[in-house]
Amino acid sequence: NFNLALCVAVLLFGTLALAEKTRYDNYKLVNLKPKTPLQIHLITEWEEKADFDVWTRIKTVEESVNVLLSPQAFVKYSVMFKIFKIPAQIMEENMQRNVDEQERSMALTRNSKNIVGRYARYTEIQSFIDNLAATYPSLVSSKIAGRTYENRNLKVAIIKTSTSTRKVWIDCGIHAREWVTPATCVWIINKLVTGYNSGDSLARELLGYFEFHILPLVNPDGYEYTHTTTRLWRKNRNPNSGSSCIGTDLNRNYGFKWLTGGSSTNPCSDVYAGRSGDSELETQAVENYIKQYPGQWDSFLTIHSYGKWWFTPYGYTQTLPSDFTELNNKAKIGLAGISASGDGSGWISGSSSRILYIASGGSEDWAYGTAGIKYSYCLELRPGQSGTDSFYGFTLPEDRAPKAGEETYGGITAFLKSIKA
Ligand code: ARG
Ligand code: ZN
Repeated sequence: NFNLALCVAVLLFGTLALAEKTRYDNYKLVNLKPKTPLQIHLITEWEEKADFDVWTRIKTVEESVNVLLSPQAFVKYSVMFKIFKIPAQIMEENMQRNVDEQERSMALTRNSKNIVGRYARYTEIQSFIDNLAATYPSLVSSKIAGRTYENRNLKVAIIKTSTSTRKVWIDCGIHAREWVTPATCVWIINKLVTGYNSGDSLARELLGYFEFHILPLVNPDGYEYTHTTTRLWRKNRNPNSGSSCIGTDLNRNYGFKWLTGGSSTNPCSDVYAGRSGDSELETQAVENYIKQYPGQWDSFLTIHSYGKWWFTPYGYTQTLPSDFTELNNKAKIGLAGISASGDGSGWISGSSSRILYIASGGSEDWAYGTAGIKYSYCLELRPGQSGTDSFYGFTLPEDRAPKAGEETYGGITAFLKSIKA
């Protein structure tokens, strides 16, 4: 039966095509150094285009932009760079090489039962939290903040003692491709728990005062998709009605000053803000969780990669919050803690809209502006946007995850010690 054979063939091909991973052969990571207002304006226009994937962009001292271009896009935009004399330098000729290197780095540890310092999968991270809670029931527990479109749990690890009073929120993995961040949340959970149990004085001091609520994966659907299919996916996986493009940028979806700049109404954009503020299950889950404990939060930390930045609010406007100086001084204590635990080179602090670009609907703006949490920050982990390992971007090999974890733990604990009453 020819029709049946055709049907089987189509099904088979479809399945194979679905199972295939997105490839990044000869995709180039390019650094641009625009100087004139026109050059800067052009890049801002291109940023809207699907084939112009800006990875980092900084505007302090001089504008510097890292952008990933497919081979076709590279040909097309290179002409523009020449015509408009925009200085362009290739940081990485073939991104697939980085993706492969990262996979090789993970193959070495894949069968290890210990996920600390690894790019672990969603189910491994859930079991890690469950096992800690079962082993140390008086110190560790968990709560499901909500569920995702693909029905995954948003499991918050809670670490607290009988004397903990004030609350600290830490989340990771809001952007799917930022793999070093869930690994860092796991690292922090592990450090706090093992530190407390072994009598480490800093862990004891902090846990005597703070309780930690840590969500290692804000966007587990997107995260799993980056492991199975498209390594450089950023958004969640919620389909958009009326469009074939999937996903919302969760860090443009929070309901404070939503859609007031630096986000898009186009569902195909990587910075799509969603159909309305707080339209997404993940955003709602985090907000509802925070709102359950009004007045009890001292700090809200949301962790991204990459760039080595410790951002204060606001993202939506260049106007500084009234207590900016104080917020930035505490951030600097965090940076000193990072230096004390790693190399710390290249880290800077300040308002994200002034250092980077304006972006509305970000979670730390909501935490600061709506929830009223004073010490609300957004951290961007290693690598830096220039210097050592910067050409890896999101595809940082797994053996750097412990360094990221260690320095971030050092930074956050130093900062928290400084705000502790
Ligand atoms: N790089 C991240 C992003 O583009 C964070 C930017 C800082 N936060 C903010 N609310 N603008 O989403
Ligand atoms: Zn991010």
